Amino acid sequence: MDKNRILIIGSGYVGLTVGIALASFGNHVIIHDKDEYKLDLLQKGNFPIYEPLLSEMFESNKSNIVFMHDISRAIKESHILFITVGTELVDGNLSLTNFYEAIASLEKHLEPGKIVVIKSTVPVGTTDNVRERLQKIYGKEIIVAVNPEFLREGNAVNDFLYPERIIIGVEHEEESIPLLQLYSKIDAPKLVVDFKTAEMIKYTSNVFLATKISFINEIANLCDLFGIDVTKVAEGVGLDRRIGKDFLKAGIGFGGSCLPKDLMTLIKISENVGYNPTLLKSVKEINEGQVRRFVYKVISVLGQGRGILGVWGLSFKGGTDDVRFSPSIEIVKMLNSNGFRVNVYDPKAIENGKKVLGNSVDFYYDPIETVKNTDALLVLTDWPEFLEVDLSKVAEVMNKRYLFDARNIFDPMQVRQHGFSYFGVGRKNV
Ligand code: UGA
Repeated sequence: MDKNRILIIGSGYVGLTVGIALASFGNHVIIHDKDEYKLDLLQKGNFPIYEPLLSEMFESNKSNIVFMHDISRAIKESHILFITVGTELVDGNLSLTNFYEAIASLEKHLEPGKIVVIKSTVPVGTTDNVRERLQKIYGKEIIVAVNPEFLREGNAVNDFLYPERIIIGVEHEEESIPLLQLYSKIDAPKLVVDFKTAEMIKYTSNVFLATKISFINEIANLCDLFGIDVTKVAEGVGLDRRIGKDFLKAGIGFGGSCLPKDLMTLIKISENVGYNPTLLKSVKEINEGQVRRFVYKVISVLGQGRGILGVWGLSFKGGTDDVRFSPSIEIVKMLNSNGFRVNVYDPKAIENGKKVLGNSVDFYYDPIETVKNTDALLVLTDWPEFLEVDLSKVAEVMNKRYLFDARNIFDPMQVRQHGFSYFGVGRKNV
């Protein structure tokens, strides 16, 4: 059988992961991005993002991968075309500008017989609209499918290779066959549905995860008042398989480029059809409150603007250099505007952090240096390596010993043994 000729339009973490992983299955993959600089970097083997395992997988499969600037040639030379461009929130509204730019290129250069697969997360009804536009020009021989991604940043390669499920939205069931063949090496339930159902499955998944997080954060806020440890409550509750233990980590709320955006979009599109999504609005409200609560806790312990703070963690979660909608960044900004001097460290996100925080804070490349002569350590991201740092060394160099653990990653009693006062989220202060 001929190898599939695949085009990936958009080289963000989704596009790169999908492209490189499909190349590892033996397919020929062309990767295109309108950002020429990014494509040049990739051509030289430099990855513009940090995503574990991705560059290694690229190295072993690069003979199957071509980075191509010329979109018309890229479209001509491929058979299955994935749209993986990013969408973004602009003033609280979803902007599909990049997405429709990609569709416009297809309108110009497509040929009958090709398969267009939408992986970008798009509002319910979008794929119908794309199919109409493309089939108007090229006729019914163009197949359009929507195949949402469920890749977590920091775990994207494994999530692609070992997914919980594959969702394929098509107009006619037989149109799913080429994609089912493409994914035949992946052992996972494969569900073929219509366009709108596939689009809705993606939103529902992300918004359900967001709901779980806001739910446990609300419980954490109650635990704070009752003097109970929310991590123990979550452990006990999560043992019930109907509930499950995942996504029950209380903290400073969900961030990143997906959960907040998808929640906002689902709220907006619900309102557009005349429905007031009260639960979804509460999920958002609770999430926004977590950052403020944490800052308030720091201020109530230290006094407004009193002291120098050492911050570990800027990315929106451990395992990534991404700082988009990062609650850690929000907290740093709020502390800064409340008069605190802030030193910051992150294992991978310093460069991205500099772009948004500028010179309002001091950046460090070592966790111990970051906390020298500071009055409190704030752990804002759940990087596993923070648990490896020797707390006795941390205690030695600090001025005062306060530890605010925004992600509940430390054992409060162990922290206490090093002479710290410990403040978690939804845990007794020790
Ligand atoms: C999310 C989904 O998990 C993926 O399935 C989906 O494909 C992706 O969005 C997307 O739409 O592209 P991601 O944004 O990479 O993935 O990150 P998550 O692991 O979902 O974490 C989101 C946020 O929730 C982070 O800020 C994280 O720290 C926070 N979180 C997560 C908690 O506060 N508590 C938890 O228990 C879990």
